[in-house]
Amino acid sequence: YSTNQPYRTGYHFQPPKNWINDPNGPLIYKGVYHLFYQYNPKGAQWGNIVWAHSVSTDLINWIPLDPAIFPSQPSDINGCWSGSTTILHGNKPSILYTGINKLNHQVQNLAYPKDFSDPFLREWIKSPENPVIEPTSENKINASSFRDPTTGWLGKDGKWRGIVGSKRSTRGIAILYKSKDFVKWKKSKHPLHSAKGTGMWECPDFFPVLKNGIKGVDTSLNDDYVRHVLKVSLDDKKHDYYLIGSYDEEKDRFVPDRGFEEVEIEEVFRYDYGKYYASKTFFDYEKNRRILLGWVNESSSIPDDIKKGWSGIHTIPRTIWLHESGKQLVQWPVVEIEKLRVNHVNLPTKLLKGAELLQINGVTASQADVEIAFEVNKNTIGEAEVLEKLPDPQILCSQKGTSVKSGLGPFGLFVFASKGLQEFTSVFFRIFGFQNKNIVLFCSDQSRSSLNKDNDLTSYGTFIDVDVLHEKLSLRTLIDHSVVESFGGEGKACITARVYPTLAVNDKALIYAFNNGTTDVKITSLNAWSMKKARLNGKL
Ligand code: FRU
Repeated sequence: YSTNQPYRTGYHFQPPKNWINDPNGPLIYKGVYHLFYQYNPKGAQWGNIVWAHSVSTDLINWIPLDPAIFPSQPSDINGCWSGSTTILHGNKPSILYTGINKLNHQVQNLAYPKDFSDPFLREWIKSPENPVIEPTSENKINASSFRDPTTGWLGKDGKWRGIVGSKRSTRGIAILYKSKDFVKWKKSKHPLHSAKGTGMWECPDFFPVLKNGIKGVDTSLNDDYVRHVLKVSLDDKKHDYYLIGSYDEEKDRFVPDRGFEEVEIEEVFRYDYGKYYASKTFFDYEKNRRILLGWVNESSSIPDDIKKGWSGIHTIPRTIWLHESGKQLVQWPVVEIEKLRVNHVNLPTKLLKGAELLQINGVTASQADVEIAFEVNKNTIGEAEVLEKLPDPQILCSQKGTSVKSGLGPFGLFVFASKGLQEFTSVFFRIFGFQNKNIVLFCSDQSRSSLNKDNDLTSYGTFIDVDVLHEKLSLRTLIDHSVVESFGGEGKACITARVYPTLAVNDKALIYAFNNGTTDVKITSLNAWSMKKARLNGKL
């Protein structure tokens, strides 16, 4: 593969060929992790959608099974779109998914495993009651904006609840349904939540997080010691946004602390500030953690995707929890990924001078895991460039890219760098002064990532809540042939990018730490590893 397929991943999930999009219905059952995903069995572009199915015992190595759900009845004959699994009473998994029916309407269907004793859940039977939820003239639901049912949760009244994403005009809506038996569903008078001007809500996800602690909890838990998260994938923006708030079970409403209608969209948190969409969480009750999976599409042209025969990957599964501030979530790659680490390189503490470039030798730079932490000298903090007002951070990242020097920054990593730096992708921090405080900008700059300009080379970025006077500024980057998945501030902000170098491929790729600011910064720790190949749906 590696010479004619330099962009295939070594440890990020992908099937051997063809198009993939959303992760669907992840769960753990009898010790086996299941991942279903939107898949086109016939080509590298979206279409002919089925639920492909892979299983794993560690969330890293995956074995392919036959598609679990594919068009077979009037209620899904034009496609089996996204949905979720729910574990019903007696440890019985079920799937709720969107079917595209004969009339091309979006309806919700139910399926059960044929054999509950099979830990691989290979065969699924569709309910004879399908569709179990449908748009009608009575309920005034728009039949082309009604999809992606969530995992169900159980209320204290013993009834199941679930939401379906929708919109009315430009108002995004999480339509709430209730059921006693998971088969007969009744639409509630009020949606769980809605927000004007946000457009279609795809792939909603609704779950509790502990107020204190990183452990995950069951989706049905609602108590004084949890908060709730509502994530929606905004079709208009193609980003995953989340709100933190309270779930009032009596009124069956979610009340966010800072909702879409209270703040500017740029101030609403995102799971990832790069390429990332249609994500989904599940509660791993064996390891007491909540795990987040997400889809990353290509940045290459469609003709290039057709040529290479595939499109789309998933991120490394991330553990997700509420930060101790209560204000935002934190994400970190699952610990299992560390099993792939080899060739550990550790550099001693080092001052990185202004304009210095430090090569990180000894790891396979096209398939690596790098962790670096910086410390800014308190006496030089006055060197930070002062901002009069706060612009959109992504625009700031593209205006003040890697080559624009300032007092403090940019400093960070060059990855997929060619010898001579004709190509490189840089992930960096830049520190500003703003209203007598310091703020940190976190960027992923793809503008120089490839000599092939047919690729999307957009820069990504966000502000990140790290107090540089008292905390270290850390960066972890998972590098994988065409993926740069970065975690800033110990998981407070993530940026995933896709890059297609023409020179910096395979063993021609290099990694550097860099400081392109005028002031020195200290590297307080630097650890890097080559990553072994994972078993990704085929041979090792
Ligand atoms: C999100 C999405 C979903 C839909 C699926 C179709 O990427 O558009 O809303 O169910 O993909 O493949």
